[in-house]
Amino acid sequence: MFGKRSAGPEGRPTTPSVGPGAGVATPPRPQAAPVAARPATPKPAPKAPIGMPKAAPKGPAVKAPAAKTPPQKTTKPNTVVEDVGGERSAEYYAIKTTIFNALIDTIDLGQLSRLDNETAAEEIRDIVTEIISIKNVAMSIAEQERLLEDICNDVLGYGPLEPLLARDDIADIMVNGAGDVFIEVAGKVRKTNVRFRDNAQLMNICQRIVSQVGRRVDESSPICDARLADGSRVNVIAPPLALDGPTLTIRKFKKDKLTMDNLVRFKSISPEGAKVLQIIGASRCNVLISGGTGSGKTTLLNCLTGFIDADERIVTCEDAAELQLQQPHVVRLETRPPNLEGQGQVTMRDLVKNCLRMRPERIIVGEVRGPEAFDLLQAMNTGHDGSMGTLHANSPREALSRIESMITMGGYNLPNRTIREMISGSIDVIVQAARLRDGSRRITHITEVLGMEGDVIVTQDLFLYEITGEDANGDIEGRHVSTGIARPKFWDRARYYGLEKELADALDAAEG
Ligand SMILES: Nc1ncnc2c1ncn2[C@@H]1O[C@H](COP(=O)(O)OP(=O)(O)O)[C@@H](O)[C@H]1O
Ligand SMILES: [Mg+2]
Repeated sequence: MFGKRSAGPEGRPTTPSVGPGAGVATPPRPQAAPVAARPATPKPAPKAPIGMPKAAPKGPAVKAPAAKTPPQKTTKPNTVVEDVGGERSAEYYAIKTTIFNALIDTIDLGQLSRLDNETAAEEIRDIVTEIISIKNVAMSIAEQERLLEDICNDVLGYGPLEPLLARDDIADIMVNGAGDVFIEVAGKVRKTNVRFRDNAQLMNICQRIVSQVGRRVDESSPICDARLADGSRVNVIAPPLALDGPTLTIRKFKKDKLTMDNLVRFKSISPEGAKVLQIIGASRCNVLISGGTGSGKTTLLNCLTGFIDADERIVTCEDAAELQLQQPHVVRLETRPPNLEGQGQVTMRDLVKNCLRMRPERIIVGEVRGPEAFDLLQAMNTGHDGSMGTLHANSPREALSRIESMITMGGYNLPNRTIREMISGSIDVIVQAARLRDGSRRITHITEVLGMEGDVIVTQDLFLYEITGEDANGDIEGRHVSTGIARPKFWDRARYYGLEKELADALDAAEG
């Protein structure tokens, strides 16, 4: 069924084939996760209005009745539950199943699939409203509206994910099985009251998402990366690898990327630090941005690219295009995972190597994680100065050793010392990003690579973030301090680009 589904106007599936209770569309295979079967005889709709327990006691999250959790899982008490679109009771789900089944019996799926999403939604709304009145289900207008919305989302979109996908303030959506949905908002991770009917519905939606990029997720290939039509990055890991049901992680694509001014306003960096970063970007230093997952590396890289001259030819290499360069002369490249038959993979290394034949002036690598590190360093060394990349490390020191081990593990038979010389000769600056325990993101180091002393790469910090304490809300207080270096190593570069006065002023101001 999935293979035949045509993409809708926004790349969304338009053929209704999935919904609460609809079977998984992949060929039947032994199910590892307990899957609730569609009740053969739907419960009669209760006459009383559906309990919309707005007033229901908050507390332990309501578990989907159908989602059987393996006995090993201990349910932790949840302190904060973010209300997204209201609670849904067990009766609500029962009524929805009844109505949904009646809808599937009534509509012509083939015809519906030929309509665009908006018309199809209207069609569904008309039929559902009719079913509600025929079945004599007592519902308030608001309850009906919610049911209509939910059913349209199930048939035409990504079901219970839709209200989360629609929100721009959410950075990440994390689904840990049908009953547990978490989001990250403003740096804080919160549990929500969103849930799926059961793991089968969740699996179905995962399948829909990945089928959009021509992939499949099931027991035989339980790990899958994909991308939503809006650019959001998706990872799915399914049972039997994920013990508590299909696990879905979505990094939402932010249309309006943060700017350096935003970062200054959020106190991620001091104004002087931002000025120094601007000079680093404009004077073509080779930069590595280091940080943990979600620490703001890509955001920072995007900001730094803002200081590149408009007349430079830039080639970007990414696993999923996230960067939004403003320059007119940009070539964007993206890696490709292997297809279902395990063929056609194009790695980051392939891209970076190819990039060198494209006459780039700067190469920007979204995330360096493997042997492409070698090619990027070579590029930095051979006239593509001003190249940049991010990598996963918790300090500038660790970033250096990570890059060394990436090259070692890439199978290049080079002595360690040679690799280090290559690193110290290529990278000028390491910028460290971090997500602190209160959820705030800070640039914690601006560090220069000076050279080698014996077998060791020598670095020098220009700016550091110092934590001074905690305020009444538990938010971290701190400030960016200059280490008092008046003449960084890239001084000559800055002078070459006519920026030494600005650099001196920024460093002076930082010390003051
Ligand atoms: N300095 C910042 N202040 C507040 N939010 C930020 C900051 N930097 C990044 N973010 C947000 O954090 C999320 C993760 O950022 P991203 O740059 O993708 O992280 P990474 O590339 O390190 O995984 C995004 O939603 C982004 O908008
Ligand atoms: Mg990133």
